[in-house]
Amino acid sequence: MSVQKRRSWAEPFKIKMVEPLKMTTRKERELALIEAGYNTFLLKSEDVYIDLLTDSGTNAMSENQWAGLMLGDEAYAGSKNYYHLEEAVQKYYGYKYLIPTHQGRGAEHLISKILIKNGDFIPGNMYFTTTRLHQELAGGTFVDVIIDEAHDTTSEHHFKGNIDLQKLEDLIKRVGAEKVSYVSVAATVNMAGGQPISMKNLKQVRELTHRYGIKIIFDMTRAIENSYFIKVREEGYQNGTIAEILLEMCSYTDGATMSAKKDLLVNIGGFLALNDFEIFEEARNLVVVYEGLHTYGGLAGRDMEAMARGLEEAVQFDHIRARIGQVEYVGNKLLDNNIPIVKPIGGHAIFIDAKRFFPHIPQIEFPAQALASEIYLDSGIRTMERGIVSAGRNKDTGDHYYPKLELVRITFPRRVYTQAHCDITVETILEVFDHREKIKGLKMIYEPKYLRFFQARFERL
Ligand code: F0G
Repeated sequence: MSVQKRRSWAEPFKIKMVEPLKMTTRKERELALIEAGYNTFLLKSEDVYIDLLTDSGTNAMSENQWAGLMLGDEAYAGSKNYYHLEEAVQKYYGYKYLIPTHQGRGAEHLISKILIKNGDFIPGNMYFTTTRLHQELAGGTFVDVIIDEAHDTTSEHHFKGNIDLQKLEDLIKRVGAEKVSYVSVAATVNMAGGQPISMKNLKQVRELTHRYGIKIIFDMTRAIENSYFIKVREEGYQNGTIAEILLEMCSYTDGATMSAKKDLLVNIGGFLALNDFEIFEEARNLVVVYEGLHTYGGLAGRDMEAMARGLEEAVQFDHIRARIGQVEYVGNKLLDNNIPIVKPIGGHAIFIDAKRFFPHIPQIEFPAQALASEIYLDSGIRTMERGIVSAGRNKDTGDHYYPKLELVRITFPRRVYTQAHCDITVETILEVFDHREKIKGLKMIYEPKYLRFFQARFERL
């Protein structure tokens, strides 16, 4: 028998600057949790040991990006960094026009205001919190048309971000194409567990929407991660580069919103990218009301430079393989230990199924919120609820949405933590799992009106 030699990958970088981490005692963490109302968003970052709250704006920049900061052209109008970013967006995403915004939701706000009329519908592959809220504030109603498998944490479908074409066409026929502002397509789908959409499905959605004259607005926040999944999972794409796959995905859409704080390896920034000149003109006008002049949109010149340079790095295969490889490393260790997580493992995060982790806690007692609290209490690791609290309330009935997915997200900042941090994270979750029967649910004692998960407060039952 011939022995198969193991050839590993490793991070394509080494560490140049370090930021010390603070460890706390269990007593300190208990107090911090009470003060934060059992909401990990309200913890002070100083009290956190390993911060896996989000991959948003938490990336480590490269020496090339830091060098770019020094080349910030902080002119109010026409900064050269804007033109550099415009060139990079045209090259890698293929859209003609660029409007920078302070972050993703700034772009969502603009496009929602421009394309959504009161009473419209916006179908999409599962909601995202800020995206849906901007659609609703503009008078629209979001309709989830993702495939059923996306709501099943045990389904191993390779492209759980796919749109169910039948659901989409049924909606268009029911309300009429003129009532559909656009189809909102995300890649990857955050709330489904960082799951990708396939190129084939996106192409089919393009064909269908063409027939009805409906636009596609792409949430390409993590489209580079999605491109990696297409390369490794979809037939016909094995030999394509990440950059080629990315460009092809964008070519099936009419415009895009971007939170650069994810894929683009920066700490702040976003943009709206468009092909239609008339929509661009309107957005270019609106951006000066809400964000800043159309050549900076709420950003400093140096931020735009870091984004342009980050984009060049983000499409490198070695980068994206190591990035997703780290998430898979943790996910596979949890699976080996029978922890119920969403399968397949997602691109930016691992999602623990809190309903299966805590079968004794009903959804109305916020099992995922309770689990995120417990993980913090055990070792100071910060994660986030993605379940009933994040889903919010139905704007017509006022009742909670009861999402099928009640998850805790363990999210990995890009290029930040080492494999040892990953191992400690796994040990913590196993520890909490060992005494899961003893853990109780929570009661919500304060609920803000918008995006409640950020600021809601809880008490232990
Ligand atoms: N779309 C997706 C898919 C996102 O994940 C986010 C942010 C946004 C849009 C909004 O962008 O934060 O720059 O305004 N997601 C963060 C997260 C908050 O933790 O998943 P933003």
